[in-house]
Amino acid sequence: MTNTAEAPKTNDASSALSRGKEKKHFQVIEKTYRNNVDSDYTEKIEALGKSYNYSSNSDYYWGDPELSTLHGTPLYEEASPSQKRALNHLYWIGQYHYTAASEINTILYNQVTSGVFANVGGYETLCKELDFETSQERYHINAFQKIGYKTKLALLGKESLGNPLYKKLNKPSGRSFLDRFNPQKQLKQIASLKASSSWESLQESTLRSLTKMMFRDKADYYSHYLEQKGTQTIPTTAGGLAGNMASPSVLKFLTLNWGSSPFLAAQYYSARMIANMYLKNREYRYYKHFKDLEKNGEFIPAPIAISYYHMLDESFHTTMSQTISQDVYKDFPKPTVYEKLLANVIIYVTQRGVLGGLPGGLPAVFRDDASFMPSYYRSLTSPLFGMSSQEALHWMEKCLCQEHEGFHVNLKYHQILLSDLRRFFDRLDYLWPINREMRIMAAGGSIERAIQRNVAAFKQFASSVA
Ligand SMILES: [Fe+2]
Ligand SMILES: [Fe+2]
Repeated sequence: MTNTAEAPKTNDASSALSRGKEKKHFQVIEKTYRNNVDSDYTEKIEALGKSYNYSSNSDYYWGDPELSTLHGTPLYEEASPSQKRALNHLYWIGQYHYTAASEINTILYNQVTSGVFANVGGYETLCKELDFETSQERYHINAFQKIGYKTKLALLGKESLGNPLYKKLNKPSGRSFLDRFNPQKQLKQIASLKASSSWESLQESTLRSLTKMMFRDKADYYSHYLEQKGTQTIPTTAGGLAGNMASPSVLKFLTLNWGSSPFLAAQYYSARMIANMYLKNREYRYYKHFKDLEKNGEFIPAPIAISYYHMLDESFHTTMSQTISQDVYKDFPKPTVYEKLLANVIIYVTQRGVLGGLPGGLPAVFRDDASFMPSYYRSLTSPLFGMSSQEALHWMEKCLCQEHEGFHVNLKYHQILLSDLRRFFDRLDYLWPINREMRIMAAGGSIERAIQRNVAAFKQFASSVA
């Protein structure tokens, strides 16, 4: 593959600025940055997280009952009012646990790509906004984790904070369960990994040489952030959306690529837009719920208020993802064959890893139930339901391997997100039709297919627990 596009040296801030005066997206960036800095939603999230205690919020639903783990399943019909509320709370903490992990991904890639835009020149406000977003994510993650920890402790007991199932399963699926529920821990482990073994060093130096070769005419753009890391291990991440998309070593490769060319740095924001829209698909429901409670002068549980302010903070981030991936990238040299190929592979694997399924036990989530079987099992055998292993498996089979309302409710969320993503990707003409039309996600929106896959995965899960 050859680098066919010319890479004009655009390190001329004044020419970029004069171009900017004519371009609408520079105004959008300025306005977004100003409004974001002037807002106080992050401070509100921080205060709500700090003062949170479960007992003051436990008697209320945190949003629409529809947004509950196992909602619409035969088990849900039989659950007591307090178990239903608990399932609603477990859904909230589970989803924000995933959001926190995804925002850890964002913290890394905001810095990697901002380091490229800084080298292009003329994008100072864009870089300031990205840095500001990074600092906001740290507060968001902190609040989500505080609420998650206290709620989990109250609902599922101390044992839920460790991972007794891991010992029991002692299989690769147990490992992925552990990873999903401890992305922070996982991230620390990865961060502490040194490329000490010769194999790792070889892998890393191969990745570096390959990327260098592909971007030999773009060396001036190499991310500041990565430059500062020097020869240290290539930064990577785990868990969250990125973790469902690729392994930490593949993500190292993406770190280098997103940090090497203006086009790919901007392209990262189309992947980030998937995360933004995925979150908004359900967070908008919390936002509306907050508004209704406020209008009626009713008590607003802290988690709903956090969702509300988070959606407001994230609306700035969403605007930036959209602006960079749909407009800013056109300011840069046209993508090479290699860049186009990689951009397509990234969206393809994101569709497959994050949007390719339709669980019946988790609304507004689009990965197969198989990923969540350990967590369903753990909830059912916890003091909340107090089931034996055999009872838990009996109910799981009933809830996952036959059609029920939960699948239909989730299909509604699936269709909303699918049409939003199609509208967004339709404007990116460098994408293959399978990505522009979100064909992998569309194929995942089938109840029949979801049940077939659940039947096979459940068999495997049940035999690993027995
Ligand atoms: Fe956030
Ligand atoms: Fe964000």
